[in-house]
Amino acid sequence: MNFNKLTDSLIQELKSIVGEEYAITNDEVRKAYGSDETEDFNFPPEIVLKPVTKEEVSLIMKLANDHEIPVTPLGARTGLSGGALAVYGGIGLSMERFNRIIEIDEDNLQVTVEPGVITQVLQEACQERGLYYAPDPASRGTCFIGGNLAENSGGPRAVKYGVTKDFVLNLEVVLPNGEIITTGANTLKNSTGYNLTQLMVGSEGTLGVITKAVLKLIPYPKNRLLMLVPFKSSIKACEAVSAIFKAGITPSALEFMERDAIVWTIDFLKDQTLSIDEDVAAQLLIEVDGNNTDVLFKDCEIIAKVVEEYEAGEIMFAESEAQKDALWFLRRRVGEAVKSNSIYKEEDTVVPRFELANLLSGVKKVGDKYGFKSVCYGHAGDGNLHINIIKGNLSDKAWEEDLPKGIREIFELTVALGGTLSGEHGIGYVQKGYMDLAFSNVELGLMKAIKNVFDPKGVLNPGKIFK
Ligand code: LAC
Ligand code: ZN
Repeated sequence: MNFNKLTDSLIQELKSIVGEEYAITNDEVRKAYGSDETEDFNFPPEIVLKPVTKEEVSLIMKLANDHEIPVTPLGARTGLSGGALAVYGGIGLSMERFNRIIEIDEDNLQVTVEPGVITQVLQEACQERGLYYAPDPASRGTCFIGGNLAENSGGPRAVKYGVTKDFVLNLEVVLPNGEIITTGANTLKNSTGYNLTQLMVGSEGTLGVITKAVLKLIPYPKNRLLMLVPFKSSIKACEAVSAIFKAGITPSALEFMERDAIVWTIDFLKDQTLSIDEDVAAQLLIEVDGNNTDVLFKDCEIIAKVVEEYEAGEIMFAESEAQKDALWFLRRRVGEAVKSNSIYKEEDTVVPRFELANLLSGVKKVGDKYGFKSVCYGHAGDGNLHINIIKGNLSDKAWEEDLPKGIREIFELTVALGGTLSGEHGIGYVQKGYMDLAFSNVELGLMKAIKNVFDPKGVLNPGKIFK
């Protein structure tokens, strides 16, 4: 792709749009905004802009489109597929000043929010009114709603409540040419024309810049019970997952963690209160929620019976809120702990739930063949397994040249099992080379044609999704 570089006069024009203070060209800031949480990539944009209104975003896009300058929308940069990397330089469009919760509509159970609001901040504002915004990626304390929308984030509660897309009613979007659109209506149902709202969700900032979102809320469940279930065999742990649903229970979270994921996180957190027995290969973290505690205890009894058939060890029930928080804290920090331990690559595979055990055993076989270790964890109830491939003692050559073949085999297996490349992290920059495994040329052609309708000059988030 051929783009133009920013000239001094264009920089002046951009400064006049957002104000001098919010148009930053110093190296330190550019470098900081050149990374997200994906491996150790760094692609500094030529300028970081921090607009605060849709009109400013519109003027920026119009200028960028006219002059063929690439624009990379930036949220909190917590993404794991490189969706926010400014791989062609140009403008890094930070949405951090779009940080207002505009309205919580308690009559309709909806919230209107700007994309730079931190997910947890939104959740807590809703919770104060007895309302629940359920999508909660592990990074909920720092990630932005805009990034969640762009990547269609999931997290632990998706298994019962759905992912980000299931909570989106309507969006305000600035198109690559600067036009401002509304994608739908603030209604729970909508059969009116093509679904532009859902086309935008998960489009990884390649079709438009979201400037406002209307999201659905539900009543906040009053109680939660949480249990940690150890298994000697990680395959058995995976097999127990679909059996729980077959027994008629829909947990509000059903998370899988391999031994190393737990041990590394305990070490990383330096938490003396948590430990794991020698013979435990994996654990399931299972939560049920609802308004009636008796029902929840009964659900737990049924779950305990099911896991017994899969040779579970002694179940630990979290007795206090502090204990529940500690277990969730541990689970949410696994990704960070793995990152701090070794150079790694993460694959965000997802398969139909029943195939989880086959996926895990297949991943280990591929690891044996290519000589790499993997640490796996994730949202087992969704069939969504985060596979962290550890560099360890692998040579740079093996890491750069052989590993992509191994990753390809993992994805081939994933697709053969009826799954796909990413459950919740997106394709972004790092997985685009594998898209041919999930889609035919006809299917990819349709996607590229859609991109072309929205962004014929390809200025918005170039270098993502497609090779
Ligand atoms: C998690 C992130 C990595 O589940 O998606 O921890
Ligand atoms: Zn996850």
